[in-house]
Amino acid sequence: MAKVIITPGRCQGHARCYALVPDFFELDDEGYIDFTEKKVPDDANRQLIRRGVNACPERALRLAEDE
Ligand code: F3S
Repeated sequence: MAKVIITPGRCQGHARCYALVPDFFELDDEGYIDFTEKKVPDDANRQLIRRGVNACPERALRLAEDE
């Protein structure tokens, strides 16, 4: 199963990921990404999630395809 992995300490709260896919890229109360690793559900729009990953200007996110 694919998953999104966060590089610790890199998220600066730009929320561009959240703006594209708010039901996947959940943010904490301070606006930072709220997980370190999250599985991509099989029925999720993976292309859209990839766009969210690539939208991060800090390159904090990485999409690991089915490993
Ligand atoms: Fe953080 Fe990048 Fe999203 S800085 S809130 S992971 S766009």
